[in-house]
Amino acid sequence: TKFYDFVVVSNRLPVDRVVDADGNESWKGSPGGLVTALEPIMRSNDGAWVGWGGQADLDIEPFDNDGIHIVSVPLSEEDIEKYYEGFSNDTLWPLYHDVIAPPTYHREWWESYVAVNQRFADAAAAVSAQGGVVWVQDYQLQLVPKMLRDKRPDLTIGFFNHIPFPPYGIYSQLPWRAAIIEGLLGADVIGFQRVADASNFARAVRRLTTSSTKTTTIEVASPGHPTRRVIAKAFPISIDSRSFEELARQPHIQARAKEIREGLGNPKTIMLGVDRLDYTKGIGHRLKAYGELLADGRIKVEDVTLVQVASPSRERVQAYMDLRDEIELTVGRINGDFATMSHTAISYHHHGYPRDEMAALYLAADIMLVTALRDGMNLVAKEYVAARFDDDGILVLSEFAGASDELKRAMRINPHDIDGLKETILQAIAMPKRERVARMRSLRKRVLEYDVARWSTSFLSTLAGVRGEREDIE
Ligand code: G6P
Repeated sequence: TKFYDFVVVSNRLPVDRVVDADGNESWKGSPGGLVTALEPIMRSNDGAWVGWGGQADLDIEPFDNDGIHIVSVPLSEEDIEKYYEGFSNDTLWPLYHDVIAPPTYHREWWESYVAVNQRFADAAAAVSAQGGVVWVQDYQLQLVPKMLRDKRPDLTIGFFNHIPFPPYGIYSQLPWRAAIIEGLLGADVIGFQRVADASNFARAVRRLTTSSTKTTTIEVASPGHPTRRVIAKAFPISIDSRSFEELARQPHIQARAKEIREGLGNPKTIMLGVDRLDYTKGIGHRLKAYGELLADGRIKVEDVTLVQVASPSRERVQAYMDLRDEIELTVGRINGDFATMSHTAISYHHHGYPRDEMAALYLAADIMLVTALRDGMNLVAKEYVAARFDDDGILVLSEFAGASDELKRAMRINPHDIDGLKETILQAIAMPKRERVARMRSLRKRVLEYDVARWSTSFLSTLAGVRGEREDIE
């Protein structure tokens, strides 16, 4: 067997298993941002990726996919129910997103979370080279850092939390709050999207452990061991901005954008929402604001169309089924009340689209609406900006999305304030080109400079720094 110097661990693998018409199975690289960011590092460092193949009982031998060694961790139907749909997405997800939906606490879900995290940790430990680097991703795997360290103290371990870390008043609901903090503290560097997330985490550490914290450094005290230094700070994630811009520049994408506009009956203003169908995204708030503007007669359906792409997500979790019913009822009502024979109010799509079509949609959209009630980062906001090589288009962005820390010249809104949101939409519709361009240029500067390569490099060099220090001591 071979061992790897750089190992990424995430719930989902970077490849999707595809089955063709003849029933032949193969793997297709998934175009996610994380993969694009880590691919070059993986190749030059002999990297392995440990994760789940996305279906029940998928037991596949490790294989190489385009220079990345893929190690699949099989999940049974019961693991999926308890660890993935249960603890990860019906306990942690709502808890970490400000309890927008009520979290459910089940002891068997927790037990499953512990057992599955152990399997991911064991799989990572088994392929990691002596003294290697392991980078664990996201809330599904928060116990992995400690489990790995217990087994492999030689490793340098990073963890990145892609979603928010909640204020202690909310976090403290969790019956297993101390175990998760200890799990995370197994890492050498713990990354968060926002400064606020890192400070929420530091507060939880102070409340639940005997470790002390000072700005971004935590001195982890454990009886019988020397104190260990852990860095916990913000590393806002991004996208492969250049490649998104290049895609949008292609003539066939620009032509497609025009075609989309014509298909919608050439309205003066196209507004766009793009989200996983998730209750954190504030889709209902957005629809309410748009519906009221139509009802008030302040906008006309012939002039302003809303395109909403809502990609299916976690469809077996009750809160997601309820949300789908609610959103589709609202879309139906608004269209029923306001659509005409030639103009629809909301063009609603309950499926994902490939990157090409997304780039065309972004180019076609005069106003991008990101109204999340809570969101770790929101990469859709960054994709919209990266696609707008023409320096036009308006980003309306919730202050509750991590992206609003960086995208200061977006039109920032509080999605709970429906009147405020309506006023902002009207301002956006009326905004003169000069102001649109000035704002978009400033947004583009940020998004093009801070791309995903910069994110991973900055995280990994912080990790390498910690590792260097440790070697000096040893
Ligand atoms: C968020 C999480 C990811 C997750 C993704 C899709 O972005 O931070 O960890 O992979 O949603 O959700 P899913 O449950 O389908 O993996």
